Amino acid sequence: MRLLPTALTLATALAAFTAIPAHAQAKLKVGLMLPYTGTFAALGTAIENGFRLYVNEQGGKLGGREIEFFKVDDESDPAKATDNVNKLIKRDNVDVIVGTVHSGVAMAMAKAAKESGTLLIVPNAGADAVTGPMCAKNIFRTSFSNWQPGYATGVVAAQKGYKKAMTITWNYAAGTETVKGFTEAFEKGGGKVVKDLTLPFPNVEFQALLTEIAAQKPDVVFAFFAGGGAVKFVKDYDAAGLKKTVPLMGSGFLTDGTLEAQGASAQGLITSLHYADNIDTPRNNEFRLSYAKQFKLQPDVYAVQGYDAAQLLGAGLNAVKGDVSQKDQLYYAMGKTVLPSPRGKLAFSAAHNPVQDFYIREVKGKENTNVGVAVKALADPARGCKL
Ligand code: PHB
Repeated sequence: MRLLPTALTLATALAAFTAIPAHAQAKLKVGLMLPYTGTFAALGTAIENGFRLYVNEQGGKLGGREIEFFKVDDESDPAKATDNVNKLIKRDNVDVIVGTVHSGVAMAMAKAAKESGTLLIVPNAGADAVTGPMCAKNIFRTSFSNWQPGYATGVVAAQKGYKKAMTITWNYAAGTETVKGFTEAFEKGGGKVVKDLTLPFPNVEFQALLTEIAAQKPDVVFAFFAGGGAVKFVKDYDAAGLKKTVPLMGSGFLTDGTLEAQGASAQGLITSLHYADNIDTPRNNEFRLSYAKQFKLQPDVYAVQGYDAAQLLGAGLNAVKGDVSQKDQLYYAMGKTVLPSPRGKLAFSAAHNPVQDFYIREVKGKENTNVGVAVKALADPARGCKL
C-alpha cells in the first residue's frame, strides 16, 4: 500500500521548509566602493584585503550568510560619487555598502545611504559630518573622524614644547578638518598655529609651499597627506633640506602604508594614529601574520579598518542570524559591540564613530613603532549629531 502523507506530516514538512528563511539562503550582497586608481589606490586595496581577510577567517560567511561582492572604483572623485554609489544601491541592490577613503566622496555616500536606508560602513574617510550632522542609525565608521588624529597629534606637538606651528594639507574636508583638530589641541596646550598652507587635492606641487616654510622657520610643521601624495611630500620635505631644520609631524597617514617608498626620508618622523605596526598583543600579531600570509604584504592602518568593517558587520549579522531586514536589532547590535580590533578594543560612540586610543608613533625602518599613547579613549565630539 502506498503511504499517503498525512495532514500532520505535510504540516511538519511545510513548517520545516518555511523555517529556512529566504535570507539564509541568498548571499549577502556587499558593495565595496573604494578608490582603485589615483593617489589613494593602495588604500582602497588594503581596505578590501582587510575586509576579505576577516570574511575568509570566518569560512567565507558572516552571520551564516555567504558574501557576494560588488565593486565600484570611486576614483576619489566627489563629482562622480552620487552616480557611483547609486550603482550599488539601485543597480546592484546591495544589502550593505562599505566605503570609502576620500571624505568628499563619503559625504555623498552618507547622503545616499540616509535617503535610501541602506546600511553604510565607512572604513576610512574621516569627514566629521558623517558622524556629525549627517549621522544616522544606518551609518557606521570603523576608522576615525578627521578631528581625532589631528587633535591627538596636536596634543603630542604641544607636549614636545613647540610653540609656533605651520600646517600644510590638501584643501578639502579631510585636510581642513584634521588641521582644525590639530589647532584645537595645540593651542589648548599653549602653542600657536601661525599659518595654514593648502593646495588642491590631489596636487603634489609642493615647492612654493616648502619655500614659504623655509622662510618662516616655525618650530614644527603639521601635515595631513596620505597615499601617493604623502610619499611625495615626505620625500620633497627632506630633499628641500627642511627635515634637518624644521621638525615634521603629521597625523599618522603621512607615514602609513608608505614607508617602503619613502625610505630614509621618513626615518624618525613622529605621528599620531589609532594604530601602530608593532602593538604587541596576541590579537595584532595574529592579524599581521594572517594578513602577510594571505597577501604577501604587510598590513597597515587601512587594512585594519577594512578588517574591522567586516568584524562590525559580522557582529551585527550574528545578532539577527543573518536577517538584515531586522534593521533596528541589527543597528543596535552593531552600535553596542566592542570589537577585538588589531588596534585594541574598539567601541563605538552614540554617533557610531570609534572611541579609541591614539598612539604616538615613530618611524623606525619599515615600521610605525608605538612609543606611547597620545590620548586614551578619544571620542569625537560629534558636533551636530542628533540620533
Ligand atoms: C579622507 O579623505 O578622509 C582621508 C583620506 C586618506 C586618509 C585619511 C583620510 O589617509
